[in-house]
Amino acid sequence: MNSRIIVALDITNKPLNWFIDFINTTKKLVAGYKFGLPFLIRYGLEGFKEISKLIDNKHYWIIDFKLADIAPIMINTVDQLVKIGYNTYIAHAFIGLEGGLLKLKEFLSKHNSKLLLVASMSHKGSLDIIDKCLPHILEAIKKLKPWGLVAPATRPERIVEIKNFLLENNIPAKIFSPGIGAQGAAPGTAIRFGADYEIIGRMITLSNNPVKIIEETNKIHKDIVGEDHR
Ligand code: XMP
Repeated sequence: MNSRIIVALDITNKPLNWFIDFINTTKKLVAGYKFGLPFLIRYGLEGFKEISKLIDNKHYWIIDFKLADIAPIMINTVDQLVKIGYNTYIAHAFIGLEGGLLKLKEFLSKHNSKLLLVASMSHKGSLDIIDKCLPHILEAIKKLKPWGLVAPATRPERIVEIKNFLLENNIPAKIFSPGIGAQGAAPGTAIRFGADYEIIGRMITLSNNPVKIIEETNKIHKDIVGEDHR
């Protein structure tokens, strides 16, 4: 899909049909969709099964439970979603490799699924602990070589730092960046500073005209990276 947008589908005040209509209306315009705990708690595994009927191999179907547990529990958590086609999973990097991320990555690779690790978060509190551990987090990333990373559009200098680290160490990980719109960063900020995708939730899902917002954002991204921006 020739877009840099991942839509975060965290709203819980709509019937499940709304999501199906939304995806059918927007799938030609975005790179993927992200589902988190709000979706799970509101619509359950049945909700995930309904949405999975729309799953194709042209989009990222991202599960964002920000996994941070021992490997067997993380694997049990994602197992059923992997089986019904969700192809990308977000975990925290800070839990470490042995008994944690190594086995999760192995399991996901075996099932043709991708792992995204959170390198730094978009809220201010990320500075309290996570960002202070960034050198250690980057070392874990260097060892594990996950398919992608999450880094904040709200602190683009962090994207630059992480991107430089990836380049220096020859790690071809994609950067996904939340923080656009509701959290304050302008559309295009993360792409301009080196991210591959912008994760956007409320700015799109709470809009009266989500398609217009998506098209305007795609245009901003194209102006930054050019037409063939995949
Ligand atoms: P909004 O509505 O703020 O939604 O555009 C943002 C989405 O991104 C998630 N989010 C994060 N995910 N690391 C992550 O892995 C982060 O730092 C981060 N900040 C926001 C949030 O859960 C929502 O789905």
